[in-house]
This record gives sequence, C-alpha cells and structure tokens, in this order.
Amino acid sequence: MRGLGIDLGTANTVVGTPDSGVVLNEPSFMLVKTKDARHALAIGADARNLLGRTPVGVSSVRPVHDGVIVDLESARTFVAAVLDQAAPHRRFSPRANAVMAVPAGATPLERRALLEVGHEAGLRKVGLVPEPIAGALGCGVNPMEPRAHLVVDIGGGTSEVTAFCFGGILTNRSCRLAGDHLTDVLRQYLRTEHKIVVGDLTAEHAKIGGPDDGDSLVVEGIDPVTGHARLVTLDGEEIADVLRPAITEIVQTLATCLEDLPAQAVGDVMAEGLLATGGGAMLRGLPQLLEEHFGVGVKVAENPLTCVAEGATACLDHPEVVAAYSS
Ligand SMILES: Nc1ncnc2c1ncn2[C@@H]1O[C@H](COP(=O)(O)OP(=O)(O)OP(=O)(O)O)[C@@H](O)[C@H]1O
Ligand SMILES: [Mg+2]
Repeated sequence: MRGLGIDLGTANTVVGTPDSGVVLNEPSFMLVKTKDARHALAIGADARNLLGRTPVGVSSVRPVHDGVIVDLESARTFVAAVLDQAAPHRRFSPRANAVMAVPAGATPLERRALLEVGHEAGLRKVGLVPEPIAGALGCGVNPMEPRAHLVVDIGGGTSEVTAFCFGGILTNRSCRLAGDHLTDVLRQYLRTEHKIVVGDLTAEHAKIGGPDDGDSLVVEGIDPVTGHARLVTLDGEEIADVLRPAITEIVQTLATCLEDLPAQAVGDVMAEGLLATGGGAMLRGLPQLLEEHFGVGVKVAENPLTCVAEGATACLDHPEVVAAYSS
C-alpha cells in the first residue's frame, strides 16, 4: 500500500488511498468501556447511533475537540480502529505511511500529539499538512504556485480562513465556532421557543435538512412539562433566521483576516474568489454571506466534506507540499 490520507475531524473522519479514493467516511465517535479506553467497541456511525442510549459501563467518546486531539489514549484507540476499518489488510503488510491533515492554526504541541497518535496507532511515516492546503489540493488548486489563494473552512468544531501561496501561509484566522455550534443554537431555540427537547442528531437533521424554499419541516421532540412526544413544524425561513446571527458572527470573525493580506495577494483573491470547504460550506445562504463580508466571489468545493482527505491523499504523491507547509 502506498499510503493513506487522513482527515481526523471534530465531526467526521475521512480516509483516502491513492488507488481507491475515499475508503472511510465516518462520524468521529467511538464507544469504549468506561474503565478501559484502549479498545473500541464501535466507531463511526455505529457509535454515534447509540448516542444518548449507551448502556451502563460504556462511554461515548469524541476523540477530537475543536480540530485537535485532547486525550492521547482515546485518540490512539480511535485512529487504530479507523485504520483497521479503512485498511483491514494492513496488519499483514508493511506498516503504511500517511499524510494527516492538521488545522493551520494548530500549536506545535497539538501537531506533535497528532504525529504521536499516528505512530502509536500503527502508521510508519507520518507527514502533516495544514487542512486548508489539503482542502485546496483536493479541489485541484496547486498550493505551490505563486498566485495567492484564500480558503474558508467551516467544519464541525472550528472555522478557519487561510491565505497561502508558493508553499507558505500568508495569513490564518480561526474561531472555535462552527457547524456543531449552529446545531446547538437550533437545539436551544427549539427548547426555549417551541418548548421541546431534541437530541443532537434531530437538531443537526433540522439544520441540514431544512428546505430553502420556505417548505416546512416537522421536528419531533419531548415536551419537558408533560414528558410526551410532540411535533413542531418549522419552515426554512425560520431556521435560517435562527442561525443567521451565529453564522454572521463566524463570517465576520473570519473576514478580519483580509486586514493582514498583502495588497498583491488581495488582487489575486479578488480575481479568483475564495474557496469554501467543510460541511458548513453547504449551509443555506452561506456563499452569499461570505460574498458580502469578504467582497469576493465564492466557490463551494464540489465535495466539501471529503476534499481535505482527498488533498491529504494527493500529498502522498507530492511530498514537496508537505515539506513546504510543515515549517
Ligand atoms: N448539508 C449540510 N448543511 C449544513 N451543514 C452541514 C451539512 N452537512 C454537514 N454539515 C455540518 O458540517 C459539520 C461537519 O463538517 P466537517 O466534516 O467538515 O467537520 P470536521 O472536519 O469534522 O470538523 P473540524 O474541521 O472542525 O475538525 C457538522 O457540524 C455538520 O452538521
Ligand atoms: Mg475539517
């Protein structure tokens, strides 16, 4: 095996190989015995589907917080289980090399934690590439060319904007508000305004599945007063209104990066527009909002959820990208 490209995200983990493309795309969730995080009982969708109904003695773990690893042991268990699932024959072949994506704003300690986890989970040589660089590469943009590019990534835990050219980062801003925060905003709104309690999955479904043409969406939750299930009808416009302030806050924070951009780079970005990646890039109305605050055209990645892993996979054949952006 030539190697693996890995995007270990707060919300989703995606793994690709040069020969087969994306071979694993699963929520970053894991079930472990509460007293022993060294063995995964389930990972991905199987683990997430049990959210809110885990038996006694079993814990649901999210190994990545805000784009970075906080607990080495559970992250190692998770990555090892991901590798087993993505490349089941790897145990019988020489250990695989990998390129792992890391937030552009990660600290040296956070980068080291990711390398350590990769090695301990059974990988041989591990290279790191900044997520926006991988995302751009996964969308066919060459991060080594002298023209500047701007990528906005709205993931589950973090939102990040990065300008880069010629193997170096020009500017980077990030905030720890992203898609999962928006899900939370909608959940709270349903509780305070419609007096129903819903789980994360229902709230996320309403956020993603809400129609954009004013059609209505039925959400089922529990009335905390009576304890009975109740249905609430929301329309697309109401969902958009609830989410707008939080999305605007994210976009405003990111747009401040323009202040740091050298004039020539602004010209490049003006001419080419920005590239939006991450699951949040699919939010209704987001391209318009980005356009308004950044003042440039917006292109949403064709595969916003997998382009980072695809770019990390492409880096296996482009070690010069990893070398240039690793310092
Ligand atoms: N169609 C959609 N519309 C809006 N939001 C979506 C859509 N699909 C997924 N999302 C949201 O995108 C987020 C996950 O995106 P992504 O997989 O890019 O994050 P991640 O890479 O795991 O997180 P991070 O980069 O912050 O570590 C979730 O909050 C999810 O609810
Ligand atoms: Mg991401």
